[in-house]
Amino acid sequence: MTKEKGKLIGIGVGPGDSELLTLKAAKILEKVPIICSPRSAPEKESIALSIAKPIIEKRENSYLKLLEPVFPMTEDEEILKKHWDESSESIAILLDEGYDVAFITLGDPSIYSTFSYVQKRLENSYLIEVVPGINSFSACAASIKKPLVEKDEILMIIPKIDERLEYLIDKGNSYVLMKTSRNTEELEEIIHQQEGKKEISSVENCSMENERIINGFPKEKSYLTTTIVKINKK
Ligand SMILES: C[S@@+](CC[C@H](N)C(=O)[O-])C[C@H]1O[C@@H](n2cnc3c(N)ncnc32)[C@H](O)[C@@H]1O
Repeated sequence: MTKEKGKLIGIGVGPGDSELLTLKAAKILEKVPIICSPRSAPEKESIALSIAKPIIEKRENSYLKLLEPVFPMTEDEEILKKHWDESSESIAILLDEGYDVAFITLGDPSIYSTFSYVQKRLENSYLIEVVPGINSFSACAASIKKPLVEKDEILMIIPKIDERLEYLIDKGNSYVLMKTSRNTEELEEIIHQQEGKKEISSVENCSMENERIINGFPKEKSYLTTTIVKINKK
């Protein structure tokens, strides 16, 4: 008899506050035998793991193995590919042994998440489940207590500045600038040049103990910062 393969579960753990984990995510994390939690460097704790910690610490006697692959913060495709391949192979071994693996990820797994690269490598061979999480920009909008979009407004999510921005920027009403740490003054300049009244707020470490709301663009550019821009063109 062949052994049944395990399932890969991508779980969004939300933006930072463990209370923003969904009940569904918590239920899985209480029982799943393997939790895979990527980190950016061997000496750095995974943010997703720190969010899930209160749930994991409450587990009673059930078997748990933690996988903590390193996904370096680089834009070098070759290096990244090597890390995604290696992690997917380690996960595949456990899935072949019949273990379910929960791959936890900051915010929501469908938004700029490392889970998507692993999912692509494994989805043809294994069962996949995706548990959504509260994404960072919804949490940031909640922190600044402002709606992101209303009526027929268009929301744009911008991960970096490049030539596409020039022809896109005047088509939207609200903009979420993610990975703010690598957005340059040039982007700020482009936003400032747009016609209309602008409301610009940035949230650093949203929903965490050290959350900071900044009016405008942040001066220091830390990784966990998102900027929300609304332009009233009327
Ligand atoms: C690789 S993306 C991950 C996005 C995540 N999957 C999500 O659903 O929000 C990382 C970027 O998300 C944003 N981010 C994630 N968590 C955040 C937080 N707690 N506060 C502010 N921004 C956050 C920042 O812009 C950061 O550079």
